[in-house]
Amino acid sequence: MHITTYATAERAAQAAARLVLTRLAAQPALVLGLPTGNTPIPLYRALVRAHRQGRADFSRATTFNLDEFVGVGRGDAGSYRTFMTTHLFAQVNLPTRRAHVLDGCAPDWRAEVARYEALITRAGGLDLVILGIGRNGHLGFNEPAPTLHARSHRVTLRPDTRRANAALFDGRWRNVPTQALSMGIATILSAREVVLVATGASKARILARALLGPVTTRVPASLLQAHPNVSIVVDRDAAGNL
Ligand code: GLP
Repeated sequence: MHITTYATAERAAQAAARLVLTRLAAQPALVLGLPTGNTPIPLYRALVRAHRQGRADFSRATTFNLDEFVGVGRGDAGSYRTFMTTHLFAQVNLPTRRAHVLDGCAPDWRAEVARYEALITRAGGLDLVILGIGRNGHLGFNEPAPTLHARSHRVTLRPDTRRANAALFDGRWRNVPTQALSMGIATILSAREVVLVATGASKARILARALLGPVTTRVPASLLQAHPNVSIVVDRDAAGNL
């Protein structure tokens, strides 16, 4: 596990973007796993900038987002699909048909998660997954629990996670759906390369538990310790307890 600390969140985002751009240049048909949240916004901004400057071609890439809220449609303001369209998909030349996000409104969620897993397999698996970390240690929406789901599944969100996502729902955490679909932890860990980006003092405590503490499903991000190819990209504030 390589941990690199940068002075600011912006520098950390630029470093993560450089890594994505390097992998994309070497392998234009890259299969990426992508997160939502505040953390990746400057990273997406850097990728969009690179694309506009002719330094990033997504025309052959495929992306799979980590998660989506149940009952929130792809056009709804609070959906992660909308978030991704705003911050990345509509601003680069990634073909829409290869920008995958779980469908939170699928009539049969079991069929939807099975479809998603099959798509990832058909794409040849994830080459590179970019992750944020929840303040409770979640990855995607794999919440702390006595056991975790290996593959994509439906999950009940914890109140703290709903509060963390309130901004997408007019600042009202009670409006945040109680359930989500999430890529499974084994699917995430099956990526050939993982980059975790964490910025801000609010992540310092959980980051130290995840990287230095015991490997436990109570801190899903701690399972990254078992992955052979992980880079941790942090700013100084998030690195405070390392
Ligand atoms: C959400 C997402 C996670 C993300 C987390 C952290 O809950 N489902 O994938 O890592 O938020 O978000 P932020 O970067 O805003 O702290």
